[in-house]
Amino acid sequence: MSKSVNIDWNNLAFSYIKTEFRYVSRWKDGKWDDGSLIEDNKLSISEASTALHYGQQCFEGLKAYRTKEEKIQLFRPDQNAKRMNDSCKRVLMPEIPEEKFIDACIQVVKANEAYIPPHGTGATLYLRPFMIGVGDNLGVKPAPEFIFCVFCVPVGPYFKGGMTPVNFTIADYDRASPWGTGASKVGGNYAGSLLAHEEAVKKGFADCIYLDPATHTKIEEVGAANFFGITKNDKFITPKSPSILPSITKYSLMHIAKEYLEMEVEEIDVPVENLDEFKEAGACGTAAVITPIGGIDYKDNLHVFYSETEVGPVTKKLYNTLYGIQFGDVKAPEGWIVEVK
Ligand code: PLP
Ligand code: COI
Repeated sequence: MSKSVNIDWNNLAFSYIKTEFRYVSRWKDGKWDDGSLIEDNKLSISEASTALHYGQQCFEGLKAYRTKEEKIQLFRPDQNAKRMNDSCKRVLMPEIPEEKFIDACIQVVKANEAYIPPHGTGATLYLRPFMIGVGDNLGVKPAPEFIFCVFCVPVGPYFKGGMTPVNFTIADYDRASPWGTGASKVGGNYAGSLLAHEEAVKKGFADCIYLDPATHTKIEEVGAANFFGITKNDKFITPKSPSILPSITKYSLMHIAKEYLEMEVEEIDVPVENLDEFKEAGACGTAAVITPIGGIDYKDNLHVFYSETEVGPVTKKLYNTLYGIQFGDVKAPEGWIVEVK
């Protein structure tokens, strides 16, 4: 059990705070060691590690939630484990057994219990599992050794304002290539997005929207989140493409829209020229939760959806249901919630 902490839970940003314990496991000679919790937040690795030179690494993001009954729960950690293993396969890293991934997350949450924000603040404990290729190596080839680590940070909203709509601009840059690593959660995709993000923010937008890298005609991602739109006849639409990161939040919202809100749901091409079809739009992801999109700047014209200042009613219902499930106030579909005991 960790010590008590002095944190202003209602004013947390999405930024690093050192918590007490992190989990580290090492892979060598074909197997993972047992792994353990440590207090030191620094890793000592070879200067020749593949993670440093060739971007051989991947990461995940999931959250722990405190319910009003003071239970602690994780949201769909099995899906993060599966996606991490898909990323590992794509960049030739060893897979991490699903049970080991979930056990590591549980150990980190329990050890840092004091950092889990109180129910009702809307804040959560963000978990960041990651894997890096380490050890002495020079050529472009997989590392001889790997480290899997999970640390955690109490966080507030990713986009300032939470459920207040924000505006985005269409990027001229790509975050991924048509047959590249866009569907994997690997660091290189994010390095490639830094300049596009910075330029968007300098122009006064929350972030940028990426179009499909092959034709630059279809919406793919909203910064580090997926896109959804609500049509005038209440369909939930989200883009389909092999270079989009398959968002666990997005697939959860598709289920919620269909099964809880009785909406039609489609994962299809979303041409940027057809923004008029949507009465509401949003960004979704673990960090972003649901961030309503006020407007999208395209060819120097701001296309406003429901409102630049107020969240639309369908987006609000989606948010309330998702939030309710994650915080234990709405019954979750079978298998979505893992209680940390
Ligand atoms: N797209 C990108 C590029 C991301 O980094 C993330 C964050 O994980 C998402 C989408 C949302 O995915 P998820 O809902 O699984 O967090
Ligand atoms: C997440 O939503 O978990 C992300 O990874 C987004 C971003 C912080 C990289």
